[in-house]
Amino acid sequence: MADIPTFTLNNGVAMPGVLFGCFQGPECRETADIEGLHDALAAGYRGLDTANNYNTEAAVGEGVRKTDIPREQLFITTKLPSTMHHDVKASFEDSLKQLGTYIDLYLMHWPQGKKEDGTVYDGPPDGPTFNDVWEEMEKLLETKQVRAIGVSNFSHKTLGQLLQTAKVTPAVCQVEGHPFHPDFAFMKFCHSKGIHMSYYSPLGNGQTVLKDADLVEIGDAHGVSAGQVCLAWALANGVSVNPRSTNAERIKGNITLPKLTDAEVKRINDIHKNDEKRHSRLCLQPYNKEDNTASGWSLEKLGWDVGFKHA
Ligand SMILES: NC(=O)c1ccc[n+]([C@@H]2O[C@H](COP(=O)([O-])OP(=O)(O)OC[C@H]3O[C@@H](n4cnc5c(N)ncnc54)[C@H](OP(=O)(O)O)[C@@H]3O)[C@@H](O)[C@H]2O)c1
Repeated sequence: MADIPTFTLNNGVAMPGVLFGCFQGPECRETADIEGLHDALAAGYRGLDTANNYNTEAAVGEGVRKTDIPREQLFITTKLPSTMHHDVKASFEDSLKQLGTYIDLYLMHWPQGKKEDGTVYDGPPDGPTFNDVWEEMEKLLETKQVRAIGVSNFSHKTLGQLLQTAKVTPAVCQVEGHPFHPDFAFMKFCHSKGIHMSYYSPLGNGQTVLKDADLVEIGDAHGVSAGQVCLAWALANGVSVNPRSTNAERIKGNITLPKLTDAEVKRINDIHKNDEKRHSRLCLQPYNKEDNTASGWSLEKLGWDVGFKHA
């Protein structure tokens, strides 16, 4: 089995290669416990990925307090919700309060801001632009309560716009990624700017990607599942992963990964090419196929993959 890498971010902070996804479903309201968190820490995960609007920050904080793993060995990512773009400081302080500890990585969850009633806006007069929000996030570094800042759901287009005014280059860009949606062009752009890419839904949200014949065959050769192959492949491409599971065996498997050969990595890199059925985003929550928007913005405005296919 392969060693799980640690990635050094552009400000020197070390980030684990595998972080446990702490989203517990859209209806989650302040659960006391996160299914699988105890198993994940016992299996060796040291990274936890949550967000203010997952309503799991308090449970992550509780899990971190309950374990005897020293806090400095853990890495907590959380995210600023779109509804709080107008008051970054207040939302950050709320996350700190919920977690009861400092934040290792604070991400702008989405480029677009949203009013409380859910209406999406595009800067003044309704609210700040994402460039303004980033400026507020940069100030948070002075509090010493956050070690690195970054973005999520940005694209080549929106990240390029953000970089035009950023004083601090984002340390991380978290996006959907798996063999059906590797986003290589954007990955290359991020790497050229010193921005670490991190995949959410790295198992394709538990859907079709896990039944892919190529991935199953490569998994069989190593005695592992297609899911484990997806994660090992992302790490081999220098991308960290945030898989979620509620099953103790799969939780352990997702951090016990095979060492893929260069030929296998290349074969997986090519899976999405020239095949519509194997070229699609799979994380369903934010996408509205009725009007082709994601979290209220058109795919064009988001700059998301024009080859978008809904599986
Ligand atoms: N930044 C963002 O906007 C954003 C958006 C979405 C997600 N995320 C983050 O990414 C995390 C994961 O995303 P996700 O939940 O969409 O997708 P995922 O991790 O790709 O897939 C999770 C699904 O795969 C199943 N699974 C887990 N390990 C498996 C394995 N080895 N083999 C087969 N099936 C397996 C799980 O079921 P079992 O529980 O039965 O194992 C679950 O149904 C979230 O928890 C969150 O932290 C971020």
